[in-house]
Amino acid sequence: MWQLLLQMALLVLVSADMQAADPPKAVVFLEPSWDRVLQGDSVTLKCQGDYAPGNTSTEWFHNGSFISGQNSSYFIEAARVEDSGEYRCQTSLSMLSDPVQLRVHNGWLVLQAPRWVFQEGEPIHLRCHSWKNTPLRLVTYLQDGKGKRFYHWNSEHHIPKATPRDNGSYFCRGLVGKKNVSSETVNIIVQGSTSLSVSLPFPPWHQVAFCLVMVILFAVDTGLYFSVQRKLRSPPRNWKDHKFKWSQDPQDQ
Ligand SMILES: *[C@@H]1O[C@H](CO)[C@@H](O)[C@H](O)[C@H]1NC(C)=O
Ligand SMILES: *[C@@H]1O[C@H](CO)[C@@H](O)[C@H](O)[C@H]1NC(C)=O
Ligand SMILES: *[C@@H]1O[C@H](CO)[C@@H](O)[C@H](O)[C@H]1NC(C)=O
Repeated sequence: MWQLLLQMALLVLVSADMQAADPPKAVVFLEPSWDRVLQGDSVTLKCQGDYAPGNTSTEWFHNGSFISGQNSSYFIEAARVEDSGEYRCQTSLSMLSDPVQLRVHNGWLVLQAPRWVFQEGEPIHLRCHSWKNTPLRLVTYLQDGKGKRFYHWNSEHHIPKATPRDNGSYFCRGLVGKKNVSSETVNIIVQGSTSLSVSLPFPPWHQVAFCLVMVILFAVDTGLYFSVQRKLRSPPRNWKDHKFKWSQDPQDQ
């Protein structure tokens, strides 16, 4: 009975697995790849997805609202704080993409990086970007409030191989003319080699459930096999024992 139920569950899961074969999701890319920019910066969002023949329209959404149904690129010439938020896109043969976050700051400096989560050993490129690329001097990159690197003239800061010690909150500061200006802080996460498995794409729940059901089925089957074997083996022995006892009993008397 249990086995039947489990096998039915298995069938349901397998069919769920087959239904999951939907068209792939579209993907939004930022160009340049900075997800934090300053007001006035130009940003291009690109949509990657498949198109049906004769339908090259790309739908763009900002914070859930439709904004454009034309090109595979969405161009922001001079970003404003209101352009911050989640962007998604969709093409005729793709599913709605996952969101990409854009943050537009109103300030003198912004710390930029292509992404904020790194594996141990990967290079980290940081950029202290100033408003309208205004010249910036005496630039310090700080980690957890302590100066990490100093440049007389603004320069990108490269960490060739990230270590767990590079994990922390970062900002940069420097002089614009005589003005001492700072960026906001951003967290950089460096995942140790031991936590590598955490960052690997986790299998969808139905695949996990599928494996679990297989393991349970195997356990139940094995249990059944042994119990049946025991039952097959034990009764004759008992019967013989009984017979032996019975045959002995009369002699005892
Ligand atoms: C083209 O595809 C979009 C989905 O991206 C859809 O909304 C639209 O109706 C399609 N246009 C035509 C003419 O089929
Ligand atoms: C990494 O840094 C973040 C803050 O930037 C902190 O919340 C987190 O606990 C740190 N992780 C480790 C393993 O040190
Ligand atoms: C900017 O101000 C901070 C304190 O807020 C100071 O430690 C730093 O030296 C100043 N930077 C320059 C280049 O003067």
